[in-house]
Amino acid sequence: MMTNLKYNNNSLFIENVSLSDLAQQFGTPLYVYSQNALTNAFNNYAQAFGDNTLICYAVKANGNLSILRHFAHLGAGFDIVSGGELARVIQATGSANRVIFSGVGKSIAEIEYALKQGIRCFNVESLPELHRINDVSGRLKLKAPISLRINPDVDAKTHPYISTGLKNNKFGIAYKDAMDAYKLAQSLPNLDVVGIDCHIGSQLTDVAPLVEACKRLIVLIDKLTEAGIHLKHIDLGGGVGIRYLDESLPELSLYANQVKNIIGNRNLSLILEPGRSLVGNAGVLLTRIEHIKQGEEKNFIITDAAMNDLMRPTLYQAYHHIVPVVERNIEPIVADIVGPICESGDFLGKERNLKVEENDLLAVCSAAAYAMSMASNYNARCRGAEVMVNHDSYTLIRRRETMQDLWQCELLD
Ligand code: LLP
Repeated sequence: MMTNLKYNNNSLFIENVSLSDLAQQFGTPLYVYSQNALTNAFNNYAQAFGDNTLICYAVKANGNLSILRHFAHLGAGFDIVSGGELARVIQATGSANRVIFSGVGKSIAEIEYALKQGIRCFNVESLPELHRINDVSGRLKLKAPISLRINPDVDAKTHPYISTGLKNNKFGIAYKDAMDAYKLAQSLPNLDVVGIDCHIGSQLTDVAPLVEACKRLIVLIDKLTEAGIHLKHIDLGGGVGIRYLDESLPELSLYANQVKNIIGNRNLSLILEPGRSLVGNAGVLLTRIEHIKQGEEKNFIITDAAMNDLMRPTLYQAYHHIVPVVERNIEPIVADIVGPICESGDFLGKERNLKVEENDLLAVCSAAAYAMSMASNYNARCRGAEVMVNHDSYTLIRRRETMQDLWQCELLD
C-alpha cells in the first residue's frame, strides 16, 4: 500500500501536502506523486542488489521527464521500448549511455537513432532483428552492443496480458534456439555481443519464477562460455509486483541473495528493469465526484476521471484502492465508481463502500505506474495534470492539456 499517504484531521495528505489543496489549485483529474516514495523505492533496489548492478527504470511505467530526471540523479539507467522513450530520457537527463533498448519491433529509424546516441545495449528479440541491427550499424560504421532476449519458458503466474515468458508469447528467442542465435550474432561483423536478458512478466508476487528464469539463463551462459562466447552482463527484466490491496510480496533482499548465489563468482554484472515497483505506490489519481446516481440495480458514483485517465481497471480488471480525501461521519453507500465515458467498461472500481457526497474528492491509490503513461484522449478528454510533492512543497510537472492540444496535429483545409 501507499506509505506516504496519511489522514491528518480527517483530510488526506501525500507527504506534508493536503490533497484537497492540490485539487483546489490544479483541478481534477490530477495525478499526485510523492518524491520521497520514488527515492525509497529506488534505494530499496540499490541496497538489496548492491554494487555491480545497474537498475534500469522501465520508462513505460511512467515517462514524465521529472520522474526520469529524479531516477537519473539517484543513479538509475533506463529501459526503453521506443525512439520516443529514448528521446524522453535524453530530454530529461542529457544522456543515452545508461539506456537499454527492449521490444520486438524496433524500426530502422529507431535503431539508427539509438546507435547515434550511443545507447548501452539493444535487447534483441529475433534473428531478423539481429540482421537489421547489424546492417544499420554497418552502414553507420559503428558496432552495436547487443544482448539476446531469451524466452526461458517460465510461467510467471500473472495476468495473461502481462505474462511474457511463455512459449506462446511473441517475446524473445526460444530457449532451444539460443545457442545458434548467439553463434549467428557472434559471426555478424557489426555487433558486439555483450549480454543476455529475459523478462517473464509483470506484477509478480512470487520471486520463484524470476529465480527459475535466472537459473536457466546461467545454464546458457555457461554453455556459451564453453563455446568461447563471453558475456559481460545478465539482465533479468522487470521488477517485482506491488501491493494494490493485500498481496503478500517477496523481500527484495531475498530475491537479490538468490540471484547473487546463482551468479556466483562468474564475471558478470547484473541489470534489472523494474518499472511498477519503482513508481506504482508513489502516487494517486485525484478525482471529484460529479454525481451520485441510484440506478435500478446498483448505485453509481460518477467521477470526473475515467478509463482514459486510468485504463487498468477495465483492461486487466485491476483493483485500485479508492479512498475519500476528506473522511465524513455519514452512512456509507455501496457503489460502482465510474467515469463519464460512453462505455460500460468505464469504471475505476466496483462495489466500493464509501462515505461520500456529491462534489467530494476521491483518491485512486497505487496510480503512478501504467496510469498516466497509458492515458488517452478518448472522447476528446484532455489528459490531467501531474504534480510532484516533496515534503512540504510541490511542483507542477505536467500541465493539464487544453482543447487546442487535442487537435494540434490535425490539418484543416
Ligand atoms: N522490461 C520489459 C522488457 C518489459 O516489457 C516490462 C514491462 C518491464 C521491464 C517492466 O516491468 P515491471 O517492473 O513494471 O513489472 N500495463 C501493464 C503492465 C505492462 C508491463 C509491460 N512490460 C499494467 O498496467 O499492469
